[in-house]
Amino acid sequence: MSEQSVSIKTTGKVIQSPCGPIIHGLEDVLVKMTTISDIDGQTGRLWYRGYRIEDLAENSSYEEVVYLLLYGKLPNEKELAEIRERLAKNRELNPATVEVLRALARGHPMFALEAAVATEGAFDPDNLKLADALRAGRYKQEEKELALRIAEKLVAKLPTMVAYHYRFSRGLEPLRPKPDLSHSANFLYMFFGKEPDPLATKAVDLYLILHADHEIPASTFTALVIGATLSDLYSIIAGAIGALKGPLHGGANEAAVKSYLEIGDPAKAKELAEAATKPGGPRLMGVGHRVYKAYDPRAKIFKRLVEDYVNKFGDPQKLFAVASAIEQAVLAHPYFQQRRLYPNVDFWSGIAFYYMGIPYDYFTPLFAMSRVVGWTAHVIEYWENNRLFRPRACYVGPHDQPYIPLKQRS
Ligand code: SDX
Repeated sequence: MSEQSVSIKTTGKVIQSPCGPIIHGLEDVLVKMTTISDIDGQTGRLWYRGYRIEDLAENSSYEEVVYLLLYGKLPNEKELAEIRERLAKNRELNPATVEVLRALARGHPMFALEAAVATEGAFDPDNLKLADALRAGRYKQEEKELALRIAEKLVAKLPTMVAYHYRFSRGLEPLRPKPDLSHSANFLYMFFGKEPDPLATKAVDLYLILHADHEIPASTFTALVIGATLSDLYSIIAGAIGALKGPLHGGANEAAVKSYLEIGDPAKAKELAEAATKPGGPRLMGVGHRVYKAYDPRAKIFKRLVEDYVNKFGDPQKLFAVASAIEQAVLAHPYFQQRRLYPNVDFWSGIAFYYMGIPYDYFTPLFAMSRVVGWTAHVIEYWENNRLFRPRACYVGPHDQPYIPLKQRS
């Protein structure tokens, strides 16, 4: 293949090196074409398969969005009933996975989720069958359909893993999934052991819709890098969960609520926002975004739900009041406005869950429960025209160093 030079437009940081320009953090670097989701960061807009996130949030369920992202169209009533039935049938876990979750009960749920997904994959015959086909270089319609079915299984099983871990962490036995409950209602039932309040179910379902996909953030890129090696789908998702755990990515929702709890008083919000503007100051969790240079549309939608929630159930720890004061400080302060830093999807999302009694270390697992459909959809799309990711580094060290035997080294 002959060498070609390409130009890349980026607003990011470019490091000049002897080998050429390095796009720090791959900001604005394109890695694939997609029809799964699109973001307009300048105006704060998001589409899934061409549908506005506002329309999907208002009218769809998470199961519908799963169908849309995996199959490329909104399901009709029959197709929706069928995917609901397939998801409900696939919620159970292999006994080995249950024991892994029990063994990791005292650890952070994101560790347990990574381990549980890898364990489940070791026992899923479909996963092993697809992995064999990929290894043999076979990926046709039959394999694509198998991959889509495995994607549905992962969507179905992650809520069970999260709920089982929570029960084990509280010294409780897990509650088997209820096939007659919707995806989100069943998760809350398995988590709390009782039929959930409709507003709580709506909060979880909306959260899952809003987090289902977001083009190529770090965790999806991780999934693509692992997927491009033709690894198996469960190992791909275990790796993506590891990427999502970081506080600069999915871990921000947990960190945001912790900061609201620590502040505790809306009057102190302004001083936190001020501190964040100082060099080396604390980053405001849930604020700023690599792509959005406007208010994250998902944050706007979730803020309305949180407002409804606290209007109905109250704001006893003043979380909504503190978050609102921080929001106002960010929107008014030149430091944030000059850098186009706005609340992102993680700014509001944890407040409703905290009041629902979901401990904040389960917020990022909820994010993973949602994004698993985006991760698998992007990998399955990339497999249509797969190519191993293999970037380079610019070596700036010495070559051909004289070897000094151990005894002669100072
Ligand atoms: C998610 O990519 C996705 O799509 C991710 C996601 C998804 O759906 O998958 O949307 C989910 O990860 C949302 C983001 C959650 N993370 C946080 O909320 C953590 C807090 N935010 C930041 O750490 C930060 O905004 C990032 C990491 C999200 C983005 O940062 P960038 O693009 O790398 O920006 P940067 O670090 O180059 O910062 C630019 C300037 C700097 O100031 P100067 O050097 O110009 O003086 O903005 C400042 C930064 O210090 N800045 C902040 C800030 N974020 C950036 N200052 C204070 N508080 C912040 N939160």
